[in-house]
This record gives sequence, C-alpha cells and structure tokens, in this order.
Amino acid sequence: MFSPKEFIEESLKEIKATVKDAKVISACSGGVDSTVTTALVHKALGEKVLAVFIDDGLRREGEPEFVLKTLKTLGIKTRYVDAKKEFFAAFKGKTDAEEKRKAFRETFYSTFGRVAKEEKTGFIAQGTIKADVIETVKGIKSQHNVLEQIGISPEKYGYKILEPLKELFKPDVRKVGRELGLPKEVSERMPFPGPALSLRVLGEVTPERVAIVRKATVIVEEETKELGTFQNFAVLHNDMATGIKNGNRLYGNIITVRIVDSEDAVAATARRVPYEKLMKIAQRITTEIPSAVRCLYDITDKPPSTIEFE
Ligand code: XMP
Repeated sequence: MFSPKEFIEESLKEIKATVKDAKVISACSGGVDSTVTTALVHKALGEKVLAVFIDDGLRREGEPEFVLKTLKTLGIKTRYVDAKKEFFAAFKGKTDAEEKRKAFRETFYSTFGRVAKEEKTGFIAQGTIKADVIETVKGIKSQHNVLEQIGISPEKYGYKILEPLKELFKPDVRKVGRELGLPKEVSERMPFPGPALSLRVLGEVTPERVAIVRKATVIVEEETKELGTFQNFAVLHNDMATGIKNGNRLYGNIITVRIVDSEDAVAATARRVPYEKLMKIAQRITTEIPSAVRCLYDITDKPPSTIEFE
C-alpha cells in the first residue's frame, strides 16, 4: 500500500541530498502534478525555491491568474514569465502532432534555460509522473516533459532536472497533494496536459484558433462540472464544415467534445452522457462561438484512442 507520508519523508531527504545549498526553480503550470511537485520541493528547500509560471498563451480562461493566486496562498515565491510570442513563433506553419509537441517541448525547455540562467540556478523541478514516461518511452507520444528517459540530456539546456513524482501514477500524486495539505481545488483538479490547448487545436496553433477552443472549453467545463469525470474538454478540428448562421451559408469550425472516465489515464472510457446534456453543450458552442457550425461527441475508449487528440 502506498503511504504518502513515507513518500514525502523519503522525497524530502532525496531532494535535499541532490540539491544541497543550490537554488531551484520549479516549473508550475498549475496542474496537479506540477503544483504537488512545487509544494514538495518548497517543503524541502523553503525560500531557495522559486516557482516559475510560463505563460505560453495556451492556458485555459483565467488560468494564469488562478495559478499565481494559488502559489501566493501557499506562500511560495513565484515569477511570471510571458513567453506567448516565443511559443506561437515555434508553432508557426506546423500541423503534424508530433512536430507540434516537439516545438512545445523545445520552447518549454529553452525558455526555462533562459530563466535558469537569469536566476543563476542549475536545477529545475518538474511534475513528470509515471504515465508520462511510459507513453513517451513506448513511442505513443512525446510527452513534453520527458527527456532523460529518451536519451536527451537536459544539460544541453543548461540545467539538471528534479522529478520527485516520476515513479507515481495520478491517484498517488493526489494522495501526496492531500498529505501536503494542498487545497482541494489543487489536489482534486481535473488533469490538464502540459502543452495545454495546443493539443486541442488540430492543425496549426495560432492565437485566434486557441481563442476558439478556449471559449469552447469554458462551455464544456461549465456544463459538465457535476459529472465527476476524469477529463472533460473541447477540441478544434482542422477541417471545416458547411453550416447555416443567420440564414446564410457559413463554412465554419467543427468542435468535438470529449468526456472520459479513467483511474490513471492509461486506459479510459467515454462517458455515456445524457443526450439532453450533449444537446445543450452543442447549442451553446454553436451559438456562443460565431465560427462554430458543428459539434461532435467522441464515443471512443482508450485504447484504441488516446485521451487527447494529439
Ligand atoms: P493520452 O492522450 O496520452 O493522455 O491518452 C493521457 C493523459 O496525459 C495527458 N497528456 C499530457 N500531459 N504532456 C502532459 O503533461 C503531454 O504531452 C500530454 N499528452 C497527454 C492527457 O491530458 C491525459 O490526462
């Protein structure tokens, strides 16, 4: 049986022994894994930890504010880095899923390389968990936060990486979060991928296309709050479809809604959501988003699908 208490004790010892007196920056996107990691290294090293939130322009509505507020409540020193321009420049012209993931990864690590240099530190903590490592090593997809396990040395970016959660699956990460006394909005948060909405914009990732999926995400999250599912989200397709708006033909956007149950993200089932609920979501998406003419519901389990589309 996993004991979060023992895990925390062991981790604190290990982190202290690795880092000694150095300063550490902790990459915090606000998700469960990176926030638990940040709280853990902060418990081990106190004031020597600086949480860094990189604004890549791909976060959900209100997310940067939420993350900064949460870290402040936890008493952790935080730096906000605006890297929106760099990320959108890296995505320019890229439509292939793996190429986009690699563009995200490269920009993520090089931005941290710059911040590490500015902050004069050689250590970055990040929230990699076991499922990230397994899927990347198996070649299913290149999770943005897996490097050493696939033979890329983080030293090329100028720092060493601490991954205190890399042997844990999501349910145990939540247990650690609870044991650390994190607020429920953090430990029980719906999982959200590091590359954020870039995985949910099929085709080229531009600020305009991210804005569409961001709006659809708000609608899906509002309408599915009470379902208690593992992940609920919207995806913007690259294809277009014919529709009718205000009595005129509109060649517009297609949005898919995905709502899944899962324990640890390794397997998942599509939730049998009542039709009325789906109709309401479709109605809101096609009325509140001017360019949206079609809304689909994904009924595929993982496997054969994955949870995200990319
Ligand atoms: P898939 O799509 O592989 O997703 O079935 C499994 C879980 O991982 C999340 N996910 C990611 N998280 N970086 C992350 O930090 C990634 O590149 C990434 N890809 C997928 C996904 O949201 C789900 O919870």
